[in-house]
Amino acid sequence: MQETKEAKKLVLSGIQPSGTLTLGNYLGALRNWTKMQDEYLCYYMLADLHTITVRQVPAELRQNCLKTAAIYLAAGLDPEKITLFLQSMVPAHSQLAWVLNCYAMMGELNRMTQFKDKSARHADNINGGLYTYPVLMAADILLYQADYVPVGKDQKQHVELARDIANRFNNTYSETFRIPEPIISTNTASIRSLSDPTKKMSKSESGDGTIFVLDNKDTILRKVRKAVTDSDGEIRRGEGKHGINNLMNIYSAATGKTDGEIESEFAGKGYGDFKLAVGEAIADLLGGIQQEYERYMADKAYLNRVLIEGAERASYAANKTLSKVYRKVGFYDPHK
Ligand code: TYM
Repeated sequence: MQETKEAKKLVLSGIQPSGTLTLGNYLGALRNWTKMQDEYLCYYMLADLHTITVRQVPAELRQNCLKTAAIYLAAGLDPEKITLFLQSMVPAHSQLAWVLNCYAMMGELNRMTQFKDKSARHADNINGGLYTYPVLMAADILLYQADYVPVGKDQKQHVELARDIANRFNNTYSETFRIPEPIISTNTASIRSLSDPTKKMSKSESGDGTIFVLDNKDTILRKVRKAVTDSDGEIRRGEGKHGINNLMNIYSAATGKTDGEIESEFAGKGYGDFKLAVGEAIADLLGGIQQEYERYMADKAYLNRVLIEGAERASYAANKTLSKVYRKVGFYDPHK
């Protein structure tokens, strides 16, 4: 882990390709990733191993992997600058996850709020993978010696667990893993559901609370028109004004306007006007991505090439850490 002064800091993050990405995934994660690609050495993966903790239709999962890769590129990630790869194509993730399982405590895993939420939602399928999911995520991060992990707020606890596991391993043996830090943007850390702003916007929500990155303009306008607000009638941030606060966060992220600018723009106007403007701003923001997306989807050979080259680069980096770990825990290697 020698670090020269000019060495770029390393960034790793991922999104589960379990369906079409949401506006929450885009604003909470993907958009921030694109801003980091010039300054840092970035590894961005499609966390397909994580998706099977919940039942997937195999043909859909395959298609969603390709679609998500196209969305990554359409959002502005440049495979010449970053390493874009599929987690399942780099076996070291599963291999390190096993080792780290032996350094993660049941008590720690029991405290993971996402496990509690997901097991309540999928009560008929509380499998071991759902439980050890954060350990696989720790392996994703630690394999690359990541300095920073840009995520939404809901993933912060998992990054903290990765830090704890890394520290435990380093203290048991010797310095092996770099200790990663989560990077969480302020106003877009948790985009809320439009139909229930006390909950986060999520891929799995059925109904009109979630805007998908590939939704067309009419759909976006309709969903925002139906968004739950309050009876106060004023466009301003306020305690308990979850719906309006959320729409202000989205509008601000889409237009770059500050709260003050938004409040004066809509002074004396009603929620209908505001919702129309929010819907238009989202449609503008996503419209460009959608066009690019179609272009990438029409060139499957190119997408395949990006994924194959990405997996080769990722494997090279990941295997370096994995062999160090294997040696430290005491696995015998007859080649050496
Ligand atoms: P996933 O697929 O649920 O979400 C991907 C990213 O999007 C963020 N996000 C949101 N941000 C703001 N508002 C929302 N409503 C919203 N919904 C989702 C998430 O915080 C996340 O950053 N376990 C991870 C994937 C993963 C990973 C990793 C991430 C696997 N390995 C290693 C970082 C590093 C997950 O399920 O994210």
